[in-house]
Amino acid sequence: MTARLLDGRALATKIEDSLRAEVQTFAGMFRRRPRLIVVLVGDVAASASYVKSKQQAAARVGIDSDVIRVPAESQTADLVELVQAAAAGDHGPADGILVQLPLPAHVDAVAVLDAVPPHLDVDGFHPENAGLLSQGRPRFIPCTAAGVQRMILDAGLETAGRHAVIVGRSDIVGKPLALLLSAKGPGGDATVTLCHSRSADLADHCRRADILVAAVGRPNLVTAAMVKPGAAVIDVGINRIERDGRSRLVGDVDFDAVKEVAGWISPVPGGVGPLTVAMLLANTLLAAELSSR
Ligand code: GUN
Repeated sequence: MTARLLDGRALATKIEDSLRAEVQTFAGMFRRRPRLIVVLVGDVAASASYVKSKQQAAARVGIDSDVIRVPAESQTADLVELVQAAAAGDHGPADGILVQLPLPAHVDAVAVLDAVPPHLDVDGFHPENAGLLSQGRPRFIPCTAAGVQRMILDAGLETAGRHAVIVGRSDIVGKPLALLLSAKGPGGDATVTLCHSRSADLADHCRRADILVAAVGRPNLVTAAMVKPGAAVIDVGINRIERDGRSRLVGDVDFDAVKEVAGWISPVPGGVGPLTVAMLLANTLLAAELSSR
């Protein structure tokens, strides 16, 4: 292996340590702990497992959390009503409300997400928060994108003037990350290329990247031939595959081959995933602080 590992687990532990101290300060000042409400629709095993990780991490730093579980058959209007009720305090005090995605196909996810008021939107998905980010005055930054930038900053990787190529244009990761990396300031000032499923010559774009981020959800999308020697490769993909008769988690990057070409590489699991959770905790504390001013 030639690439250095971008260890998301270790960095998330470091972030949690400082958040724990900040939460303690907050609790001392305001005589309460921040509180997060998660809405979990249906019983998809992966979503339930992510939600459990979020709750465990919240508990580790002193943030209270509660999960509202509703059946997969719930209708859009029911979910909008539920989110509105949670925002009004019907499920106890809330500093942040998170609707775990994906929602069942019959649900209008945009309508449900839009029901989360912007000041409780710790996912950073509300148009007001997306707009603030696009104007360079972020409030709640989508957690995965924030985690990728934090990983880059922590590794001391230069972004100013460098070429960042992001594969995947989702509202959750690709789009906000393109804004973050091209914004003025530390961890920004990069030249960003945002690739997607209709991009021509994807491999050519990727080979020009100093920082290559894969956020598509397709195993082995990024091969060694698509990576410039010495580049930083950050893998946002989380794919469950069967290998050797066992279910395994893999990213979008062919890790074993790419690690011989890249200068830096993030693993799956143990890369961006833990940082996403840490950034959610940071957003929840920020929400509590903003509402207590
Ligand atoms: N499912 C996968 N990633 C995310 C995320 O960042 N937020 C929410 N709410 N659901 C997700």
